[in-house]
Amino acid sequence: MATKSSNKNLHKASQAKKDEFYTQLVDVEKELKHYKKQFQGKVIYCNCDDPFESNFFKYFAANFNALGLRKLITTSYNKSPIAGRQLPLFEMEGLKSIKPKDAEPYKIEINEVIDINSDGAINLEDVKQLLRHDKNTVIPLSGNGDFRSEECIEPLKEADIVVTNPPFSLFREYVAQLMENKKKFLIIGNVNAITYKEIFKFIKDNRVWLGYCNNRDKKFEVPETYEYDEIIDGKKMKTVGAIWYTNLDVSKRHESITFYKKYNSEEYPKYDNYDAIEVSKVSEIPMDFNGVMGVPITFLDKYNPEQFEILGITDREPKNKYRTKMYTREDSPKYNDLNRRAAIRINGYLKPVYARLLIKVKK
Ligand SMILES: C[S@@+](CC[C@H](N)C(=O)[O-])C[C@H]1O[C@@H](n2cnc3c(N)ncnc32)[C@H](O)[C@@H]1O
Repeated sequence: MATKSSNKNLHKASQAKKDEFYTQLVDVEKELKHYKKQFQGKVIYCNCDDPFESNFFKYFAANFNALGLRKLITTSYNKSPIAGRQLPLFEMEGLKSIKPKDAEPYKIEINEVIDINSDGAINLEDVKQLLRHDKNTVIPLSGNGDFRSEECIEPLKEADIVVTNPPFSLFREYVAQLMENKKKFLIIGNVNAITYKEIFKFIKDNRVWLGYCNNRDKKFEVPETYEYDEIIDGKKMKTVGAIWYTNLDVSKRHESITFYKKYNSEEYPKYDNYDAIEVSKVSEIPMDFNGVMGVPITFLDKYNPEQFEILGITDREPKNKYRTKMYTREDSPKYNDLNRRAAIRINGYLKPVYARLLIKVKK
């Protein structure tokens, strides 16, 4: 019979963080192609990436010379449930001798990639030979490969740009570490992370912004035991609302949005609890309104800091200076819900709206 404590452990296990979402090569390629010039001559570090399964490693290794990279470093974390499925490098004769024990995380450094079959291009056949090269090393880590550990912070310090899809459950800490170390980065994160106060503060201060491909329906490969949405080529795939966060330059941040609508108080009601108007679609931002506007977070896809200023967010920022009131039970039995967001009054009833960014046109 299951005891109380074993039940508790089972419950804990089912609540355990699920962080194994493997990025598809197509998603890596679609985004990274925009930063080719910025990668040139740089040390790239992928610190949540088992090279035998990570498409970030695959992309950078295969494009090492075309991008003109100085070095590629990857560190892996513990034993991965799908290790070796995507890039079975160690199956190559001769590489077995340097294969770290299965469960051990390791660090790989690529300093040189030779076009082995001399066809002028570096393809995956060449990449498979990478680790035979004297200048490239595989070193087992003594710890578990946690990105916060000393032996992973050391390559972080050496790196110019960090590129990966880190564990969603540790996203706040992950970004904090990058910022503390003043690193350039390009990483995947859940779209909801925009509203985390630890992340939003950087967005508001123009220290972090979004990359190019922020479609919310990216598919990630997941381990056997995870819930999944579909099977593609025998792999279990889960769709996640994931977007790119970066502090590398992104050209669309320099393009201004053109507007076509004019302000009127019926179409753009004022919030009941914020000194701002509700704009429910980014494309309908009124061209002639100079006050504060609440817009959907998808605005960040079009945000040009020379055109707009971000003043706050109506979510998780109770002390926002544009908030004009806090509701009590006397206002509504749902006062807690109302206090979480901006609310509009419709036919006498208060209705909370989704999280809104508070923005203003720059003079
Ligand atoms: C979202 S998955 C992405 C994997 C890979 N970067 C990719 O894009 O395919 C996050 C990875 O981080 C690893 N991970 C979890 N906690 C970690 C930690 N504390 N330090 C380093 N890696 C961690 C997970 O095992 C998982 O492989």
